[in-house]
Amino acid sequence: MIVAVDGPAASGKGTLARRIATKLDFAYLDTGLLYRGVGMMVVDRGDSLDDAEAATRAALAFDPAMMDDPRLREDAAAQAASRIAGVPGVRAAMLDFQRKFGTFPPEGKKGAVLDGRDIGTVIFPNADVKLYVTADVTVRAQRRHKELLGRGTPSIYARVLQEMQERDQRDRSRSAAPLTIAPDAIVIDTSTIDVEAAFQKAMAPVLEKISRQNRAQ
Ligand code: DC
Repeated sequence: MIVAVDGPAASGKGTLARRIATKLDFAYLDTGLLYRGVGMMVVDRGDSLDDAEAATRAALAFDPAMMDDPRLREDAAAQAASRIAGVPGVRAAMLDFQRKFGTFPPEGKKGAVLDGRDIGTVIFPNADVKLYVTADVTVRAQRRHKELLGRGTPSIYARVLQEMQERDQRDRSRSAAPLTIAPDAIVIDTSTIDVEAAFQKAMAPVLEKISRQNRAQ
């Protein structure tokens, strides 16, 4: 079983996806880490983030072990990721890994939850359940701002908001696998609800799908 969770930055999709995976004992993949890893490789190699060929070369050399690099959690990695994520060669290089992960989840798990921008539209258009998690950009920027301050990282709200708007714009307007809502996705707006309420909303269609599949067996 595949659960696809898409949405913009800081919408809460990662928290939801991880909780769904834990609840069902499914494998979980944060696909943003793939693009963050490639972005950081380009930076580390001293190449330009605007150089599509350099980004594709980095993507082809990408080792999933890099996803453990703590630098990938930083905003610099997020910005770098968003800049290389529109390169078709980068997306093609990441496709197989994601499809294999979902189709043959590690540790023999019975399903997988993947979160990203194009999981339900491009990677698994036939996913069993598609969720699109969103929130108002000002709410998302507030969340990120608080998170940074909480980690002891200096942060200016106006700057966080501006960077988030720029990233949204890039992720939505690129021609290769832009962030869009799949027609069959269930939209969960987390602007005014807490994590628990969002989790209940997300689990409802997943549990319904599981019981329908069990009945059909
Ligand atoms: O989810 P995130 O914030 O870690 O993603 C970082 C960037 O990576 C995001 O701005 C766009 C890109 N990305 C993507 O293009 N496709 C995905 N499936 C996941 C992330």
